[in-house]
Amino acid sequence: MASLKDEVLAKLSSVPTPDGRPLTATGKLSEIVANDGKVFFSITVDAADVKAWESVRELAEKAVRATPGVQSAMIALTAERAAGGGGGAAAASAPPRQPAMAPGGARPAAAAPPGSARGPGGPAGIPGVAAIIAVASGKGGVGKSTVAVNLALGLRDLGLKVGILDADIYGPSLPKLLAIKERPQTAGGTRLKPIVRHGMPVMSIGFLVEEETPMIWRGPMVMSALTQMLREVDWGNLDVMVVDMPPGTGDAQLTMAQQVPLKGAVIVSTPQDLALIDARRGIAMFRRVNVPVLGIVENMSTFICPHCGTRSDIFGHGGARREAERLGVPFLGEVPLAIDIREKSDAGEPVVATEPDGPHAQALRDIAARVRDGLKVESRPAPKIVIEA
Ligand SMILES: Nc1ncnc2c1ncn2[C@@H]1O[C@H](COP(=O)(O)OP(=O)(O)OP(=O)(O)O)[C@@H](O)[C@H]1O
Ligand SMILES: [Mg+2]
Repeated sequence: MASLKDEVLAKLSSVPTPDGRPLTATGKLSEIVANDGKVFFSITVDAADVKAWESVRELAEKAVRATPGVQSAMIALTAERAAGGGGGAAAASAPPRQPAMAPGGARPAAAAPPGSARGPGGPAGIPGVAAIIAVASGKGGVGKSTVAVNLALGLRDLGLKVGILDADIYGPSLPKLLAIKERPQTAGGTRLKPIVRHGMPVMSIGFLVEEETPMIWRGPMVMSALTQMLREVDWGNLDVMVVDMPPGTGDAQLTMAQQVPLKGAVIVSTPQDLALIDARRGIAMFRRVNVPVLGIVENMSTFICPHCGTRSDIFGHGGARREAERLGVPFLGEVPLAIDIREKSDAGEPVVATEPDGPHAQALRDIAARVRDGLKVESRPAPKIVIEA
């Protein structure tokens, strides 16, 4: 029996292109990811040809959707400006790869080299979304996703309309942290409806591919997947979109800073020096692209033994506060190292939602209040968000 990927390829072989060759013979297709009825890939063309190829993207998407066994499809048109080329002064000084996205038929978004993306005019916002904030860290595993989800819940409890985007396309966490197993439905055309949890719209690449599947992404695919999740999902009206970032300072961070106007970044760090060095790196990166740093959270701070009440500073204590002072950014608060936080997170029951009156939730809600103050957003008079799941 042919695999889903083979069947998709067979369908794509009948899609005509401006080259006069079938799409599958153009060498412009990325690897096709086909998993459990969900298919996605990108078509990479020269920036000058984007217009001509948009109809190919649409035809390809139709063909994929018409393939038996396909439940959802995400296909991005990615443009790469030719490197160097003619050897003239302008070409020689251009960055070797300057991608311009044309997701889902939208006009190609302006692609700019790091540092210049937020110049006058800046990137376009997401209609209906008042503020987008990134929860980031330089180092992996410091609790970004845990903080992001609970921060979102804390902001929701302050009366804000909040959505969560999982920008970690290599290792999406939100399906697990929010116990989401269902797949997003399409909302007509290429748009997707987010999954709604705890009254908040949520989107993650993990809803489209299996959690355990190792994903190999090329730079342009990272950008097209992120751009589609930002712009082709029906987020509705939001006061704040909380973005759970992957660790580090790579493609995803730059894409976020270039593709949408980030209102600020919340940096998560554990107290020890090694994590703080990476946190510093993260802060420097956001500053470089003119994204305000809303502050630092010290996660996995003091451990209080649930049995005997003894305090131990396993990773140290107070390092993030000192670092915040040193760097002149707000200190947003400490989240204790607590078995409860880990168990609840791993069970898809974030503490702010499931133990709202406990001390851990309180610490996280205090952080949410400081973030809200830093953003200077007012809660809307309307009641909590209601979206059909
Ligand atoms: N305050 C805490 N106390 C105890 N465990 C925690 C705490 N914060 C996070 N954890 C646990 O640490 C692990 C890593 O957390 P999380 O996935 O949120 O980190 P991350 O920074 O998003 O990781 P990655 O860099 O892989 O995206 C998880 O098992 C989580 O439950
Ligand atoms: Mg994470």
